[in-house]
Amino acid sequence: MSRSRLRLGVLASGRGSNLQAILQACSTAKIHAGVEVVISDRAQSQALELARRNQIPAIHLDPKSYSSREDYDEAVVRLLHEHGADLIVLAGYMRLITSRLIAPYRNCIINIHPSLLPSFPGLHAHRQALEWGVRISGCTVHFVDETMDGGSIIIQAAVPVLEDDTEETLETRILEQEHRILPQAIQYLAEERLEVSGRRVKLKSPKPMSGAKVVSPLIEIGL
Ligand code: GAR
Repeated sequence: MSRSRLRLGVLASGRGSNLQAILQACSTAKIHAGVEVVISDRAQSQALELARRNQIPAIHLDPKSYSSREDYDEAVVRLLHEHGADLIVLAGYMRLITSRLIAPYRNCIINIHPSLLPSFPGLHAHRQALEWGVRISGCTVHFVDETMDGGSIIIQAAVPVLEDDTEETLETRILEQEHRILPQAIQYLAEERLEVSGRRVKLKSPKPMSGAKVVSPLIEIGL
């Protein structure tokens, strides 16, 4: 591993459970990273509160104070630079971002999304999955590019969709996996083990796979 500690800038709009998972992975040294700043577009975001409780600079930037998305993102970039962030993590950040933020951090911004992309991008991913009737859903960590939820995929986890699932129960099952794959993606980056080649992201020196498979509904005929 050539990098000692990755400096994270986290952008979040909501409850902050993914931020919590990152902070926990940092504090238990499961990942070689530290959160330098948390920025939110929503004053009420619990992610800001969580950052403050952990003595991390927590900044609310009000979109209404900026005349365009571009101006807003320039202000975000200034703050990220000020805090020396070298990896930007969108952890439940519900704003569309512009090239003003993407260009200076190409291949250094990642996003977590609650579906197996490219299925169900955008809002209400759980509802979309239930309405479509998929049997397997999950979550994805991907690099952010100019397309919505369309950047190269780093890691995905699958979960079954059950007969009686509601948006809430499916969200809970997927969130549990989000909290595993987001810190893992950060650690891959901290270890500089990802090689991006167009759409494909190759993991250097992967550990052997356990061979686990996800099938839903269950196979009942003893195969
Ligand atoms: C997470 O489920 C995340 O995947 C989703 O918002 C939630 C944030 O939860 N992100 C998106 O839908 C982005 N398109 P959290 O605030 O508890 O981390």
